[in-house]
Amino acid sequence: MKFTIVLSLVALLPFVAALPPHLDAATPKSPEALDAVLQEGVAGGEFESLLAGNTENELAGACKAVTLIYARGTTEPGNVGGNTGQALFTALRSRLGAAAIAVQGVNYSATVAGYLQGGDPAGSTTMFNLINQAASKCPSTKIVIGGYSQGAQLTHNAAARLTAATTARIVAVFGFGDPFYGRAYGSIPASKTLNICHTGDIICTGSGGSAEHSNYNQDAARVTTFIAARV
Ligand SMILES: *[C@@H]1O[C@H](CO)[C@@H](O)[C@H](O)[C@H]1NC(C)=O
Repeated sequence: MKFTIVLSLVALLPFVAALPPHLDAATPKSPEALDAVLQEGVAGGEFESLLAGNTENELAGACKAVTLIYARGTTEPGNVGGNTGQALFTALRSRLGAAAIAVQGVNYSATVAGYLQGGDPAGSTTMFNLINQAASKCPSTKIVIGGYSQGAQLTHNAAARLTAATTARIVAVFGFGDPFYGRAYGSIPASKTLNICHTGDIICTGSGGSAEHSNYNQDAARVTTFIAARV
């Protein structure tokens, strides 16, 4: 068992090295510091989620009462990434009923370069297109948009390009660890916006480290309550 765990940890090392590159300046490089990041990730269940490479493509299916367009953070796999999104989708499906919410990930490259550009431009366009697609395909669905880290940047960029008519279809917006924390999401009113930034999260506050940027799964219930009150 112990042997298996050690083997798994070694197998995970490439992921650890790649895990917080959106934290460039702050990313610890010493073996001790990497180990600390590793332990944190294992404790938080991050790596199981990472390896699962989660995807959500429900916009392709039948229209539902609520449509969530979600953009993952830098380096996360699949189209919705790890436990930040997973915790939220689980809580939302439990609260609203799985039949009432369609979850659609934004498929984009999620590289560090994209983060440094203020959110991958192609990914921002993909998210913009998905929001428009939800609005036209499902005329009565209530649209929720949001993202984690670079995914929140995409959410800002996509929201800024929406027409007034499509903006009006959006009932709630959320951000986790948003590098653009404090800015509006296009012309979506603040009353529809919940942007969560942890004290000590270097990405949204400019000081601290990666630990408080890696635990937004803790906020799933809060965002779910916010969304449920608006759909
Ligand atoms: C994202 O799009 C690319 C190119 O179309 C495709 O190869 C890849 O499988 C997609 N990834 C996901 C998670 O849907």
